[in-house]
Amino acid sequence: MPKTTLLPRLADGQIHSGQELADVMGISRTAVWKQLNRLAELGIEVESVKGQGYRVPGGLDLLDANRVREQLKPASSNLLREVRVLESVDSTNAEVLRQLVDGSDPRGLVCTAERQTAGRGRRGRQWVSPFARNIYLSLAWDFSEGASALEGLSLAIGVAAVRALKELNLGPVSLKWPNDILVEGAKLGGVLLEMSGDAAGQIQVVIGLGLNVSMSAATGSAIDQSWTDLDRVSGGRTPPRNHLLAALLDELLPLLQNFDREGFSPWRDEWRALDALADAQVLLHSGPDQFAGIARGVDDRGALLLETASGIRPVFGGEVSLRPAS
Ligand code: BTN
Repeated sequence: MPKTTLLPRLADGQIHSGQELADVMGISRTAVWKQLNRLAELGIEVESVKGQGYRVPGGLDLLDANRVREQLKPASSNLLREVRVLESVDSTNAEVLRQLVDGSDPRGLVCTAERQTAGRGRRGRQWVSPFARNIYLSLAWDFSEGASALEGLSLAIGVAAVRALKELNLGPVSLKWPNDILVEGAKLGGVLLEMSGDAAGQIQVVIGLGLNVSMSAATGSAIDQSWTDLDRVSGGRTPPRNHLLAALLDELLPLLQNFDREGFSPWRDEWRALDALADAQVLLHSGPDQFAGIARGVDDRGALLLETASGIRPVFGGEVSLRPAS
């Protein structure tokens, strides 16, 4: 679908007459009207103010690849290959995976979007992805030692995301094994890694990070668990999403550069300090099975240490979920 050029004009939340929009953009009134319909299709509320024009109530905080790049630290900028900002996509992870098939260098390829029509969560869940409200970020990297080199990577990504939020005074954020980013038990975000290539050799990984920034209660009602967003957490003082993206990339890119060599162990203590379920009674679901125990943090490979009557055993990620027992 073509990009809606009308959007940046209406993003200021002010009233713009149909004629003004047509003149500024050099298009007909009919073309303006078509674009307004397209905005409605994207889920954007456009108010028609009688005799005056159109406005998007509250305005929109739009993504801009140049703004993201400008705000990056030089060290991260050097690790970035490309930032793509899409208006609408099925899933930014799926998009980056599609880009990887041509054999080009995946390192530092970044894709973000205003909305996802089929955002992917863990365990086959949908990731609710309304337009211009949240962060949907995917980032590619590659590793030469196969899938085993990726142990603990998604946990380290969680720590890096928390570091970025702390840097912006957004918190208090905690982590729930394996991939959840929480605030006071409510889900703020999550990480989804997807792989392509040779599981025993050269492997490409797409790191998907979703972060709720400013989600309406109506949209959030589609989420089947307790959730929150940065606006609630910060009392409405959330920085623009371009700034958030730059802060996240400033943490994620250096992490990826070093992870091949260092693995998860340098991240372990920080992960444990952020562990929302440290020493809590938990239930672990793995397919049809359920195990009760006490969560005793994680080991150097990012495995959950689950204490049961028969001792402490490491549990690796994958299609598992963890809940407090109460
Ligand atoms: C989870 O279930 O907690 C993981 C959610 C991951 C969502 C992100 S949004 C950007 C990227 N693209 C997707 O389709 N999913 C991930």
